[in-house]
Amino acid sequence: MNDYRFSEDVGSFFRSPVREIFKRVDLNAIYSFAGGYPSAETFPLEEIRATMSEVIDKYGSKAFQYGATQGVPELRAAVAKRCGVDQERVQITSSSQQGIDVCTRVLVNPGDVILTSSPSYLGALQSFRSYRADIRGVAHNADIDAYISAYEDVIAEVKAEGKHISFLYMIPDFQNPSGESLTLEERQRLVALAQKYDFLIVEDSPYRELRYEGEHIPTMYSLDPDRVIHLGSFSKIFAPGFRLGWAIAHPEILDKIYVCKQSLDLCPPIFDQYVAAEFLSSGKLDANLQKSIELYKGKRDLLLGLLEKHMPEGVTWTHPEGGLFLFLTMPEGFEAVKFYDRSLDAGVAYVAGEFFHPDGSGKNTMRMNFSFMSPEKITEGVRLLADLLRDEIL
Ligand SMILES: Cc1ncc(COP(=O)(O)O)c(C=O)c1O
Repeated sequence: MNDYRFSEDVGSFFRSPVREIFKRVDLNAIYSFAGGYPSAETFPLEEIRATMSEVIDKYGSKAFQYGATQGVPELRAAVAKRCGVDQERVQITSSSQQGIDVCTRVLVNPGDVILTSSPSYLGALQSFRSYRADIRGVAHNADIDAYISAYEDVIAEVKAEGKHISFLYMIPDFQNPSGESLTLEERQRLVALAQKYDFLIVEDSPYRELRYEGEHIPTMYSLDPDRVIHLGSFSKIFAPGFRLGWAIAHPEILDKIYVCKQSLDLCPPIFDQYVAAEFLSSGKLDANLQKSIELYKGKRDLLLGLLEKHMPEGVTWTHPEGGLFLFLTMPEGFEAVKFYDRSLDAGVAYVAGEFFHPDGSGKNTMRMNFSFMSPEKITEGVRLLADLLRDEIL
């Protein structure tokens, strides 16, 4: 076995700690705030069954043949309509994780810089690392001038090192892991920064439609459609098992993504695309999404109330207006990775925040998901976690 010669890229592969947790424990048996799974109740099984049947009646064997690399025209048209863009700007992806990976593959050379928030989405960091990108994270700051000048400082550093900035990767809506969103002004200032220093933006927005309060904020894409690549996904608004998403971008960028995808998977899954297209254009997706939003809003409110009631002094958390996560910060000195075994022994799983920080900081933070567990399990899980934290911190 030791004689195999692997590519140099393999040395930069980074095993997901979240998936390692899944290997260690039965998520249904414990109180798991760890994964980013949607609630299984939101999958409309009977309607999916009926739609599958309709797709077979309507398309016959075409639904099981190879198809266009860009995606089937029916789904591209439905996504274009939903997002208010031309169909020629829509590429269907095998979900947004592939969108992230393919963007990195076509835009980044080893050593190139990717700017991102700190914390940021772990799956994106994994992808960036696998292409040997140099990831520079910037923490959010409510003072917008200080926030933008922190980016300016990093950009100045990178330029002084003679490095190329490839793109800024952002999750502006209900970020994974923090649950926070960028204000319109923050989006505008970041887009202006990209224009000033001439880099692209990859806007990853799988949670955008899961809003429980507040007004929708324009996408970064809408602020500069030729500079921003927008990634969307059916995973959180329909079901992740379909593995379908989309990339919206300038046709020249999309063409590179298209050629790259030819070597990745030839085409996105055809049958799944027809089912998603039918679901979307019949209005069934929106009706089901509305139910998911109500369910998740209830769970978010429950979790926020429980944290308020049970968490010991010194623990703070974010207030997400949508999405599936919130982020907990414990006092300095607390180490969420070390605390993990103790917590898991007691039956509570979470993801330590440092994994989301490109520089390994954020040791006193953790991500909590509120979509997956039942309200009863959320209630008992928070109570247990709060007891353990009280014991550890005080
Ligand atoms: C910010 C973000 N981007 C992308 C993904 C990948 O999702 P999918 O590939 O299922 O669309 C996730 C999944 O949790 C995510 O949180």
